[in-house]
Parts: sequence; structure tokens; C-alpha cells
Amino acid sequence: MTDSTAIPIGGRAAGCPFAPVPELYEAQKDEELRRVTVPSPLLGDFDAVVVTRYEDVKSVLADDQLRMGGSMPYQAGNLLSYDGPEHSRLRRMLTGSFTTKRARELRPQIEGVVESALDTVAQAGQGADLVKHFCTPIPTLVICELLGVPYADREDFQHRTAVALDFNTSREVQMRQAAEMEAYMAGLVARHRESPGDNVLGRVVRDFGGELTDSELAGIGNMLLIAGHETIASTLSAAIALLLGHPDQLAVVRDDPSATDGAVEELLRYCAPAAILPRQAAGDICVRDQKIKEDERVVASVLAANRDLGAADQDLDNLDVRRPVQRHLTFGFGPHQCLGQQLARMELRVALPALFTRFPTLRPAVPLDELDYRTNALVFGVNALPVTW
Ligand code: HEM
Repeated sequence: MTDSTAIPIGGRAAGCPFAPVPELYEAQKDEELRRVTVPSPLLGDFDAVVVTRYEDVKSVLADDQLRMGGSMPYQAGNLLSYDGPEHSRLRRMLTGSFTTKRARELRPQIEGVVESALDTVAQAGQGADLVKHFCTPIPTLVICELLGVPYADREDFQHRTAVALDFNTSREVQMRQAAEMEAYMAGLVARHRESPGDNVLGRVVRDFGGELTDSELAGIGNMLLIAGHETIASTLSAAIALLLGHPDQLAVVRDDPSATDGAVEELLRYCAPAAILPRQAAGDICVRDQKIKEDERVVASVLAANRDLGAADQDLDNLDVRRPVQRHLTFGFGPHQCLGQQLARMELRVALPALFTRFPTLRPAVPLDELDYRTNALVFGVNALPVTW
């Protein structure tokens, strides 16, 4: 295995925050897997084997010998803290609330939320910040209604989420934020224990409350709340910024409803908000013919895998919303594959065409290369996106 400590594994190319650093393309060409040092404010810097090819990332994420355990601080109820049968047991309690059918049923509700966000953008007028008025409120309102979390509490939990996902936040502050989130959710869980609402939290309490501790229930609520708003808000902001720089492709999203689903997959491939997915080997395993020893850490690069030129005959460095085959690992793969992916797709499919239809002359209010991209956080996005029309 080649020893190379120099790759900034989550890094993004200078001049194009959507692209991985060139070193990841180099690693992709190597026959030998590389070992890198991964900076992590949560766990401290650690050494890990990095996988960058599409097929390698898939096989790593599907391998039940590669565990979440140790890759994240443990949080009761958070699916990303569990492996094996314990993980399946908890996940089964939630899958019914996040099916494709359920996402389809939510469409009218999502359309209503998007329409009211568009009205807010119009009221804010020229120079309106789409992150503030469009990208953030849509998924926040949807997940609040879905879970049974009061929307009035959003500013507090949005702030805590942003701090918790920021790589510059110290471990101490991260822990304090996590404790505050847990205390907040514990209060909501207590209310649902008393009188379960007609929503995801209420349903979990009603159907599985006897099998779950209060802190597991609070952990489930927090995981869904954080995963359910921050990821979509970030993907929306990145996708809109990207399309504003590609007016021909924006026109396809605006004018051709038959292209929407494919366009959303291409934007998901290109904008992947989670650049890396970490794991730890529970036993000796092989990736291709190369051995990874028990306890070694492995980091899968979603950014590089989504542009794996070796495995496809298309130019995956370019954005092409009409690309005939979209494949990406933006939602991960294997047992931990994103639970909320159908909901995420539905929100993006409704929100993006609606925005460009309501504001057909939409354009950035500042030069696109001056946008403040969030590159030093677990979830990539744009911090502010002022527009005119
Ligand atoms: C564009 C939006 C989203 C993206 C890009 C995204 C991405 C991901 C990824 C990459 C994983 C796998 C992590 C790993 O394997 O280490 C994941 C897991 C997860 N996501 Fe999402 N996600 C999105 C939206 C959502 C939404 C809307 C929800 C919930 C309402 C959600 C809930 C979850 C949960 C619960 C898990 C953990 C699943 C498990 O461990 O079994 N996500 N997501």
C-alpha cells in the first residue's frame, strides 16, 4: 500500500469547490490503495486507507466487516452509531416513514411549502438571499411537519446544527451542542410519550415506544431533524449556484418537466454535500486484492467516486443535466444508505423547477466566483446566495 500523507481527503479543487482535489484523481489511477492522514476535530487526526474508485467505494460501503463504530462519536438512537443486527432493528422502525410512496404522498405538502418560500423571496425583493428565504426554510418546514417538531423552534436548532457540522468547532463545543440538542428533543419525546402525535415521532413512540429508551427516541428525533434539513438546504444552495453559472442547463430544468428527475440526479452527483464517509475494519478484509487489517480506518471519497472516469465512458467532470445514465454515491450505499433519499429527491424535484419558473430571469446578484462556499464543514453548500431577477 502506498504511503501518502499529503492528500486533503475532503478537499475541493482550488477554483472549483464542486470538484475534488487533483490528488484524489491521482489516487484513483493508482493500482495500490493509499493511506492518508485525515484531519478530524471530532476524533483527532487519524490514518486511514482512502478509496476513490466508484466500484471500490460501493464495495467498502456494502462490506459488513467495515463498521461505523469508532468513526463517529456514539449517540444513542443515531443510526450512524450502530452496526449489524442492532442497526437493522432500529432502521426497520423508521423505513415505513421514508418510502418512495410516502415521498409521493408528501408532494402536495412540499409544493405548498415551496410556493410560500417563493412568496417570501418575492417579498424580500431584489438582492434576496436564497439560502435564507428558500433553501433553508423549505426542508426545515417539511422535516418539522413530518417529525412533529414545532417550526417556531427552528432558529435554535438550525444554529446548533450549523455549529455541530462545522469543522472549526472544538470538540468541547460540539459536545455541548449535542447535549443541548438532546435535552431539547427529550422534552419533545416526553410530550409524544404522553400523547403521540400523527407524525413520525408520534408513530415511533406509538409502535415501538416500549422497546426504546427515552434517549434512543431523542437520538432518533435529533438524527432525523439534523439530517433532514441541513443536507437538503445545502444541496439546494449548491445546485442553484451551479445552475446560475450554466444558464443553458438551468433552462432545461425550468422548461422541460420530463428532464427534472434526471437533472436532479445529475445535480446530486455533482453537488454531493458529504464528501467523505468513514468506516473502521472489524476484521481483516480485502479491497480488490489488497489487505486492510482489523481496526484500520477506511475513508470512502464520494466526490472522487462520483467522477470516476475509469468506470464510465462519459466526461463526468462536466455537468450535463441531460446525461442519459446517472450514477452516484451521494446517498451512500449498503446498510447505511440514506434513509431520507426519496424525500430529498422529491423536495429537489419540486423546488428547483418552481424557483426558475417563478423567476425566469433569475441571476446572481454578486459574481459567482465571489460566493462564500462552505468547504470546511461536514456538509458542503453555499452560505449566502443573493439573487436578482
Ligand atoms: C440531499 C440530501 C441528502 C443527502 C446528500 C444525504 C446523504 C446521506 C449519506 C451519504 C448517508 C450515509 C452515511 C454513511 O454511510 O456514512 C446518509 C444517511 C442517512 N440519512 Fe441522508 N442525506 C440527505 C437527506 C436526508 C434526509 C432528508 C433525511 C431524513 C429525513 C436523511 C436521513 C438519513 C439517515 C437517518 C441516515 C442514516 C442511515 C443509516 O445509518 O441507516 N437524509 N445520508
